[in-house]
Amino acid sequence: MQYMRKREPGEINLFKRREGEKDQEEMVFEEEEKQEQIERERREGKEYVRDIYDDLYERDFFPVNVLQGSNVIELIGDRDIYGVESGRPFMVIEIAKTAGTMTEEEEESDERAIYKREIRDKPYDNLYQSIKKEAIIYHRILPKIYDNLPEDIKERVVFPRIIDDIKEGDKTKAIILEKMDGYICGNHDTTKKGVWNEKDIEAICFLIKEFQETDPEEIQNSGFELPYKDFLKSYQRRFNERSEPVRALMGEEYVSKVEGILHNIEEVISRQSPSVLSEDIFCFNTIKMSDGRNAFIDWERPYLGNDVSADYGKLISRLWTDPEMQQEAIRAALRINQDNPDFKSLLRASLIFGEGGHMFRHYFHRLNSENLQKREEAEEAVEVFRKLFEDILDNKGAWEE
Ligand SMILES: Nc1ncnc2c1ncn2[C@@H]1O[C@H](COP(=O)(O)OP(=O)(O)O)[C@@H](O)[C@H]1O
Ligand SMILES: [Mg+2]
Repeated sequence: MQYMRKREPGEINLFKRREGEKDQEEMVFEEEEKQEQIERERREGKEYVRDIYDDLYERDFFPVNVLQGSNVIELIGDRDIYGVESGRPFMVIEIAKTAGTMTEEEEESDERAIYKREIRDKPYDNLYQSIKKEAIIYHRILPKIYDNLPEDIKERVVFPRIIDDIKEGDKTKAIILEKMDGYICGNHDTTKKGVWNEKDIEAICFLIKEFQETDPEEIQNSGFELPYKDFLKSYQRRFNERSEPVRALMGEEYVSKVEGILHNIEEVISRQSPSVLSEDIFCFNTIKMSDGRNAFIDWERPYLGNDVSADYGKLISRLWTDPEMQQEAIRAALRINQDNPDFKSLLRASLIFGEGGHMFRHYFHRLNSENLQKREEAEEAVEVFRKLFEDILDNKGAWEE
């Protein structure tokens, strides 16, 4: 499981380097060490799982499903949490009230809830930092953001209510959230086709903007240091990588234009002040509810950065599955940020060097996939990104100056 202790890189190398030179005794010793480690990991894993069951039991809940994106793992029969690998530093479990413990009202509504528990065990001094951040955002930030949204946007946006914080000493280790009924609007790389209309796109862009108005002190005062990302450094470091598909599919002329954008953005970024950015307002963390509203979940990642366009970049890049809505999102982001004279330049650079460039390269590499379905998906994606890059680099469409 993800939360078990990882071997230090050095430990593994040591094994490798000395292969062939080991005597019998040494090999037995290493084998014993390995077994001990597996045993230790199993013990630690069981402790976590028992702890989760204890948390739930104390609150008259029982686990129903483990949730991983749109993947639902049913915990029925002899399948319990022991058998589920998280693969993420969190365990997210759909829970229900134990029979006989519900009020009449609860019984009628068959209310389910979500238990989200941080399970990463290293580094120890950072344990529960992410879940602490998420709890702060739910308690202190999201209600204010909702209040500040324009009335017609409020109708389309909802945040789950936080039902409980579960503590270990003075640290929050898990949260229980209201379960939002609906379906996830995409996966990590793709937005579900047709899930959003123009109004949804506008609402999400407003939410991104409003989130960035958060005063960092508001979070830091609750005892949480937000990490800082230096976008200029990141863009500079990524120049070669991001140029790869451009060179291959668009030619050297466009690589020069990419270089021009990097050159231009240095000055622009250097005059920005840091804002609170979400990192994760996008399709994979949005639940489309049956009444049409979008519910926004997963708030563990906010950080400080000097590029207010970054969150839009993530949203827009995953919209390659619906090029028309992708264009709509670009227009909405530009419109909502008209007051910021640097925004257009920032969004350009974000799409080229940030998430847009990342996705372009990701699918460019998949053009060689042995899997036909992946290859076809990549061909579709690469064409959309090539066109997007061309528009940006030639100042066409929404990018006209
Ligand atoms: N409040 C909620 N209502 C309904 N489903 C939820 C809720 N919170 C989480 N989920 C489900 O659990 C999955 C993982 O939760 P999330 O908070 O996004 O964790 P992670 O950080 O692992 O992405 C989501 O993709 C979603 O399917
Ligand atoms: Mg998520």
